[in-house]
Amino acid sequence: MELIVHTRQERNELDDLYGLFFEDINHAADGGLYAELVQNRSFEFCSVDNADYHGLTAWEKIEDSGEIALTVRRGDAVSSQNPHYLELNVTEPGEVGIQNLGFNSGIPLRKGAAYYLTFYARTHDASATGITASLRKGDGKVYQEATFRLTDVWEKYETVFTAMEDDWAGRLAMTVEGIGRVDLDFVSLFPADTYKGRKNGLRRDLAEALEAMHPKFLRFPGGCLTHDGSLRAEDRNAMYRWKNSIGQVEHRPARKNNWGYNQTLGLGFYEYFLLCEDIGAKPLPVLPAGYDPHHHWGAEGILLQEFIQDALDLIEFANGTPDTVWGRKRAEMGHPAPFHMEYLGIGNEEVGEGFFTRYPRFYQAIKEVYPEIKVVGTSGPFSAGPEYERGWRSAREDGAELVDEHYYQSPAWFIANQHRYDSFPAENPKVFLGEYAAKGNTWFDALAEASYMVGLERNAHAVKLACYAPLFCNKDYANWQPDMIWFDNHQLMRTPNYYVQQMFMVNQGDVSLVQELHGAGAAVKLYPFPDSLSGELMLSSEGSQVEFSDIVITDSDTGKRQTFPKPILCQGSEMCRITQVPLTNYTISLKATLLAGQNCGRVWFAHRDDGDGFFWMLGTWGNGSSLLIERSLGTDAALSYRERYMEQGKTYRLEIRVTGRKVQTFVNGETEAEVEAISPMAEQVYAVSSRDRHSGDTILKLVNVLPKRQVITVTLDGMTSAEGTACVLGGYDREARNTLGQPEKIVPGEERVSFDTGTFQWELAPESVCVLRLREKKRHSR
Ligand code: AHR
Repeated sequence: MELIVHTRQERNELDDLYGLFFEDINHAADGGLYAELVQNRSFEFCSVDNADYHGLTAWEKIEDSGEIALTVRRGDAVSSQNPHYLELNVTEPGEVGIQNLGFNSGIPLRKGAAYYLTFYARTHDASATGITASLRKGDGKVYQEATFRLTDVWEKYETVFTAMEDDWAGRLAMTVEGIGRVDLDFVSLFPADTYKGRKNGLRRDLAEALEAMHPKFLRFPGGCLTHDGSLRAEDRNAMYRWKNSIGQVEHRPARKNNWGYNQTLGLGFYEYFLLCEDIGAKPLPVLPAGYDPHHHWGAEGILLQEFIQDALDLIEFANGTPDTVWGRKRAEMGHPAPFHMEYLGIGNEEVGEGFFTRYPRFYQAIKEVYPEIKVVGTSGPFSAGPEYERGWRSAREDGAELVDEHYYQSPAWFIANQHRYDSFPAENPKVFLGEYAAKGNTWFDALAEASYMVGLERNAHAVKLACYAPLFCNKDYANWQPDMIWFDNHQLMRTPNYYVQQMFMVNQGDVSLVQELHGAGAAVKLYPFPDSLSGELMLSSEGSQVEFSDIVITDSDTGKRQTFPKPILCQGSEMCRITQVPLTNYTISLKATLLAGQNCGRVWFAHRDDGDGFFWMLGTWGNGSSLLIERSLGTDAALSYRERYMEQGKTYRLEIRVTGRKVQTFVNGETEAEVEAISPMAEQVYAVSSRDRHSGDTILKLVNVLPKRQVITVTLDGMTSAEGTACVLGGYDREARNTLGQPEKIVPGEERVSFDTGTFQWELAPESVCVLRLREKKRHSR
């Protein structure tokens, strides 16, 4: 096999291809990247955020001796935006007060490190003289303490503690001196050692892990987090409104995070922009379009105008001079220079006309004032189907420089879809692959992603931006898996997926190069998948009650019919097995009626003993969606998606037509999906090459998904020798993964390489990723 890289022939600009996506999911911000150590610092937690929350969540009463009553009050707090505070009423003096439990196992303390404590307090009784703040061990042993005398008005108090030993389960205690009533609000503890030493800063290890990737852009503040919620900015469960997230932290209203917890907004838009600047990534904020696709409500009139104005003001906040209204706010926060924002996303994977009627108003308003801003539209949460097509149509007709595609699929899907973007046009709108992952953190998942990334880079004419999702997961608060970086309160673990992303990002290059691959041989089946889609037909409900009837299976080759006239009631989690369908070309027709519940069940077909096969989900996701799924090697991939509501009591005629590996579905005679089954034909090698204009380096990315070694003859056309580095990741079991206990089981190795000619042999280890970074050898004169 020979790979010829024409090192002087440029192909496509790679621009900002590889970046990151941050969402406050899995406690990625509070209890994660945001370095605040106190959980529920302003006593704002409530059952809107999470049914189990209350004003004293993460706080514990201390009543070792004496007597104290704790009451969370609303009203005259430090900030009207965060209206709660804690009243501590001591009726019998002693060791009384509260302590904060932090996140995970507690407040992490590192021996010798400094911690900034700030809090607000006041007293109502001259006899309640003060508050003693202390860092403690879980068993109550005090490491260090400081006592503060209080007045009868809210005042801010602060001190610096130094940790005396490593303790990942520390406590911050606030005990009351004397007798009577003391009020407490906004109790905050930060390590002094934040990323770049910033106040209100970020956890250093986590931020440095991002910096080490050299991302070209950062998408924030989230996916569903941005558009899920009510329309009024002042509501606790509002959609993400960026203006709430800037200014003094005490006045940023704590809100319900749609992933089931509380979000302080301490990590807000200003901090996101700073982070981008610090890690060298271009900011790519995403704003809601005033439409919530989950609840199907949308802003009208003046309220919609408010959302549009938010978008315009954000551009001014990021890029305006300090003499503009929003530019001044940025300057007042400490950053007079602009943040040079180029991209702005409107909407996150929205579907439904409610979005598409509003989106053009945003696009036009932005372009009128800021024609240079690249606006990102959206094609929904899946890779194909009517909603995906609708998103692209809107982008073409209503305007968008990029379309944000999202998909979480099986490794098999990623390998089978290597050529997805080959036929995409080079004209705008371009692809922004804003969320993708192979649904796992094993070595095989990462390998499949690597092969797919070669396809993205090869198609840089059409694919302009791509980022893995989600980025972070606090191991004790996982809402969504897989994730790229896992952590607890004091350590982190980079997944194999992280290392693959890092290898591609650090070695992106500025422009792709013309290359030729010869003698690679035919693609091979990644695993022995069958040529035809025969298998079992089964029916089920997802906890609802569905009646299936009039089942007919017709052999398309012979016309022979098999009928099941008796109605079948599916309920609970029971699987109703109908029959084996040992055919290649066939049609299954049946009727479905939702009798009770929120979805119209599933039709399983071509189902094999190993559990792989297809299922059609009807009226799923709160009876809003219809999804055709293929399961390969035990992992699901959505092949088609459309919005569909299944009315209770109404009977629908369903049809599945299988022709070889082609599947069509119909509802009441109307086509719903038309797809090919996943055929993961693995190519012998996946290769892409690029050039770093600054260093002049030629970069080769090579991925071998096959369990055999491959030898490639590499010719660097235009070079007479080469030296540089080879970064290699591979040689693991497919199921291998890193863990917090063993974070470096899978980690790339780097070696120096040197070749005396422009042609050399390179060996790729089985199931491995390799990046060669090469330049002409330096000639030493004697
Ligand atoms: O990345 C997790 C979620 O997946 C995002 O919030 C959403 O955009 C997508 O559905």
